Amino acid sequence: MKFSEEFETRFAEMVTHYPTKRSALVPTLLYAQDETGYLSDEVIAEIASRLDLTELDVRNVISYYSMLTTKPRGKFNVQVCTNISCMVRGAEDIFDHCKKKLGIGHKGTTPDELFSLEEVECIGACSWAPAAQVNFDFHENLTPEKMDQVLDEYKKKGTQ
Ligand code: FES
Repeated sequence: MKFSEEFETRFAEMVTHYPTKRSALVPTLLYAQDETGYLSDEVIAEIASRLDLTELDVRNVISYYSMLTTKPRGKFNVQVCTNISCMVRGAEDIFDHCKKKLGIGHKGTTPDELFSLEEVECIGACSWAPAAQVNFDFHENLTPEKMDQVLDEYKKKGTQ
């Protein structure tokens, strides 16, 4: 398994920041996922070996964090928060709207691999609920109309 030089430089520096190798697991997984799109069996085995962990240790951590995935996702991963603050401000409608517009359900990916959709727990944007995150960008105070604009913008970006 070969990562980019950039990954190797980051990894070499990162493991020096923590008292144990295990502590570098989450950032290592994030960097690896950024590079490969998802955490394949091969990536998991490589990271487990580098950090002196079992593959099960690594999989347990991956299953805890919604931003980590072992399955390929679309180019734009739409995460709609339906936790309490967002829920009372219409998050269910936003999520239903996304499902209808994209034609996929929770954890689904559009056939053109442009979008994936997920219902997630709090993303830390409660003051601006309802909120969604697309890759690393936050979108707040959403309405179905505003969500349409957001998705249309990404579609335009993805097909240029
Ligand atoms: S509850 Fe939705 S961002 Fe916190």
